[in-house]
Amino acid sequence: MNTPTPSNPQVARKGSGEMFDAIAARYDRLNAVISFGQHASWRHRLVAALRPAWGQLDEVLDLATGTADVAIEIAKTYRARVVGVDPSEGMMVVGREKVARHGLSEQVCLIDGDAQDLPFDDQRFDACCIAFGIRNVPDRPKALAEMRRVTRPGGVVAVLELAQPTGNGLALLARAHIKFVMPILGGLLSSKEEYDYLRESIAAFPKPEAFCQLMREAGLVRVAAKPYSFGALQLFTSRVE
Ligand SMILES: C[S@@+](CC[C@H](N)C(=O)[O-])C[C@H]1O[C@@H](n2cnc3c(N)ncnc32)[C@H](O)[C@@H]1O
Repeated sequence: MNTPTPSNPQVARKGSGEMFDAIAARYDRLNAVISFGQHASWRHRLVAALRPAWGQLDEVLDLATGTADVAIEIAKTYRARVVGVDPSEGMMVVGREKVARHGLSEQVCLIDGDAQDLPFDDQRFDACCIAFGIRNVPDRPKALAEMRRVTRPGGVVAVLELAQPTGNGLALLARAHIKFVMPILGGLLSSKEEYDYLRESIAAFPKPEAFCQLMREAGLVRVAAKPYSFGALQLFTSRVE
């Protein structure tokens, strides 16, 4: 029977926690290689965008926290408490080890959960973000509505996601990188299914303006999209009213 289980990851829904359980041990290496080492600076832009008008963040929610790189950077940058949520226990095992190595176990807590149904009170967090995770969430409007619900008024809700570079010139090179170079590098470190999923899910992700519209429909305001790396990366920012 084709029931996705942690012990049977080949049939796990693509992008699900079970799929990430299967690649957790390789995930950080895969990320570094596929992004040509740019992933840290990409996450850095997301973390910088979370700063609120009132300056200080006390508690932040990091959805699809995975191996906790974003959570760790938020905790260090703002000296904030961070709750990371992810359905993949395997990713969070790697993440918790990293959190401990950075001496942040008192500040950063990683818990099992789904971005579509958050176990938190309304307006609990000063900011909420998701990096390279919204692509994997089946009901994106629901997840965006949840992000808005749990963030206090004035707080930033931010989404970092891979995208299809558009345009000519260097964007052509970036497209060639995704089409020809990433499959080779990705194939060396992950299975064909996992790699195909990455490529297909990037291609299927809504165009920036369409995703901004989803954010507005979720009740978020001051929505903006900023492309980086010739459009291979989009940073979406917004505020809660
Ligand atoms: C590509 S990883 C990103 C991890 C991390 N944010 C980073 O920057 O490296 C995507 C993560 O999304 C998680 N995920 C999948 N479905 C999810 C859902 N419904 N809610 C929250 N996270 C989810 C996966 O388990 C995985 O850890």
